[in-house]
Amino acid sequence: MKVLLIGSGGRENALAWKIIQSKHLTQLFVTPGNAGTGNIAINIEFVPYSFESIGKFVIVNKIDMVVVGPEEPLVKGLVDFFASSERLRSVPIIGPSKAGAMLEGSKAFAKEFMTKYHIPTARFFRVNASNRSEAKAFLQTLQPPYVIKADGLAAGKGVVIVNTLPEAEQEIDAMLQGKFGQAGKEVVIEEYLQGIELSVFVATDGKSYILLPEAKDYKRVGEGDTGPNTGGMGAVSPVPFATPDFMQKVENKIIKPTIAGLQQEGIEYKGFIFFGLMKVGDEPYVIEYNARLGDPETEVIIPRIKNDILELFNAIANQTLNTFQLNIDTRTAATVMLVSKGYPGTYEKGFEINNLVNVKDSIVFHAGTTFHNGRTVTSGGRVLSITSLGKNLKEALALSYKNAEIIDFQGKYYRRDIGFDL
Ligand code: AMP
Ligand code: GLY
Repeated sequence: MKVLLIGSGGRENALAWKIIQSKHLTQLFVTPGNAGTGNIAINIEFVPYSFESIGKFVIVNKIDMVVVGPEEPLVKGLVDFFASSERLRSVPIIGPSKAGAMLEGSKAFAKEFMTKYHIPTARFFRVNASNRSEAKAFLQTLQPPYVIKADGLAAGKGVVIVNTLPEAEQEIDAMLQGKFGQAGKEVVIEEYLQGIELSVFVATDGKSYILLPEAKDYKRVGEGDTGPNTGGMGAVSPVPFATPDFMQKVENKIIKPTIAGLQQEGIEYKGFIFFGLMKVGDEPYVIEYNARLGDPETEVIIPRIKNDILELFNAIANQTLNTFQLNIDTRTAATVMLVSKGYPGTYEKGFEINNLVNVKDSIVFHAGTTFHNGRTVTSGGRVLSITSLGKNLKEALALSYKNAEIIDFQGKYYRRDIGFDL
């Protein structure tokens, strides 16, 4: 099979690493990719980037399957674009239709969907310019802190949590007035859920689903979960508090009604659903849906899957997941993200990355890296994700931290307490 993978982060490097191990693969292209995917596959850049240019490439190069990493092309309708083209319709794409990606693309849509299908989530209220005056009454029914979310995609920055009512009012106005552009035309106010978060993933072909390994992501930049939110500073899998009893509740109260709801709405969905959950006491609540795999969760989930990944993707595409047997490595995977000093604020890039060849016993997935004059240099906030497998969390983390020390670039920063709370 010839495969085109879309994306450029650590998630895509992990997917590429797994895809090249498939016995069914003949050639892997990644667009735009990074230095890590460039080492193991063929990176291509579409200039200008458009659905048409992707489609043309797929036809000319006789690509057999397209795998979509990030949410943006899904929310913008790449899958629908393929479905509407005579020549592309038969090419399987791993990723939901635009309607399915609305689970991530519109928080208001996701909340209405959860309400309709009785899926546990925080109480909420939708605000826009026309019902702005009603927000106060809803806010007064809540206890602080207050959760204010821009409805649309806002590059992971659209959620703000504040402690007082005046700040909440101010934030709602700022969003409605365009703080996050179009994404904030509508705002969702939510009740704050107190608990511990985890990320649960399923692969679905629209009819049935399989549960993938769960993961815990460390979102804050600082040790002890302090400082601003990032894309994710590290992750571990499995998650000790995701006990069989708890996961049974997740399946019964959240996953099954979600899959059934998508079917009932007539929404095409062949891809991954990422359930961002909060465990409140012993009960799971949905904080958010994503229409893709997580990053850095993918960097710990994928190495624990023992199957040939193209066989999993084929089962999604052919709607034969009901007979697919997933084999999971029982070891623990941990990943530590090396980031650029200043991230998630402003940071410098273009620094050479040294000692990658000296890494032993870990897998290094590239995120923000590129080639420059034959050298591998930093090109993003999150630079490298160092994943290790161990018989327990301590062993996996020790390996990742050993290599985090060895790899070197100017401004390297990482959290030294990934997994500290488990
Ligand atoms: P999101 O971008 O939707 O993942 O939200 C960012 C983070 O905000 C989440 O990972 C949670 O830590 C937090 N968050 C979002 N919604 C809530 C909520 N209703 N209660 C508590 N924390 C929340
Ligand atoms: N790590 C969280 C996300 O991918 O959105």
